[in-house]
Amino acid sequence: MSEQDFIPKSYTNSIEKGSFAWSSPSNIALVKYWGKKNDQIPENPSISFTLNNCKTITKLSFSKKEHNDDFSFEVFLDNEQKDDFKPKIQTFFKRIERYLSFLKAYHFKIETSNTFPHSSGIASSASGMSALALCLMSLEKELVNIDSTLNADEKSLDEEYFIQKASFLARLGSGSACRSLEGDLVVWGKHDSIEGSTDLYGVKYPYKVHENFKNYQDTILLVDKGEKQVSSTVGHNLMHDHPFAQERFKQAHNNLSKLSSILKKGDLDAFIALVESEALTLHAMMMTSMPYFILMKPNTLEIINKIWNYRKATDSKICFTLDAGANVHVLYPENEMKNILEFINNELVEFCQKGQYINDKIGFGAKQL
Ligand code: PMV
Repeated sequence: MSEQDFIPKSYTNSIEKGSFAWSSPSNIALVKYWGKKNDQIPENPSISFTLNNCKTITKLSFSKKEHNDDFSFEVFLDNEQKDDFKPKIQTFFKRIERYLSFLKAYHFKIETSNTFPHSSGIASSASGMSALALCLMSLEKELVNIDSTLNADEKSLDEEYFIQKASFLARLGSGSACRSLEGDLVVWGKHDSIEGSTDLYGVKYPYKVHENFKNYQDTILLVDKGEKQVSSTVGHNLMHDHPFAQERFKQAHNNLSKLSSILKKGDLDAFIALVESEALTLHAMMMTSMPYFILMKPNTLEIINKIWNYRKATDSKICFTLDAGANVHVLYPENEMKNILEFINNELVEFCQKGQYINDKIGFGAKQL
């Protein structure tokens, strides 16, 4: 698939108005995407667990307009008009117009809500952009004349194209959003030994994964619920003149190769080492860029130390990962859930803002509502 394959040929159906709704989850990267080229092309491949409970639900209502001169849309979050979301969506529409030529023909009402608390420091851009991309693809699907005589193989190719193009569009909204459509592990970015992997969209991890990773748990500790100190756009750009950038991109390729064998064997100790190293490397990149940033808070470090002590004392397979912020994702196998939730309640909750955390686990992707 190339970019050209996502340019629509022609729309044979006409549709005056209607609506579509999708729910789409957040995801947490194990090998991190940090650094991009033009058009949201990643500098290195990444892989993530799709989450189950942290989701965005978006309803897109559309009605034909008289003139096709400009984009026309309004945005609501939890039933409240949100004009401050408009610039991001305007940029998104501009980027994807080439691939969805109906965008200026309709007025859109975008109604969205998140299952996780607003301003929890959890990025809603991955779940939000993927939900919106899927709603737009549902409309495109109606506009394209669906041939009811398609056989089963052709229909499944059709579905594959739908999800690939939705992921491709989501990527143009927010890079990591392209990993939120399917589950339970998604790879984005070309990697020589992962078949089908591409810089253009996310693909389901195509190889066998050991039972140890089934229903893997992620408890998200909300350490800092404030606005992000550094937007991810600024963060990615800091990799352009970064002294360690090339080494980091190479390391991500190697880590993804290593992770493939870890996932196959179910080697939890090697998983812990790789995942924690990836998280700290992401933060090390931020600390060693110019300008430099420390995105962890003292409580982030308190939690990391507590996790390390608990692991030493109990032989637990608990580990942590981080996004580009202070919150901590605590990852652990399902069979340790009871003990680890007890540990979190007894020893980690005090480091969370207002004692808040979210229990999540591996999920299986977006759903049409
Ligand atoms: O999708 P963006 O541009 O917000 O970048 C997110 C990057 C990280 O969350 C820090 C890492 C990742 O791979 O998700």
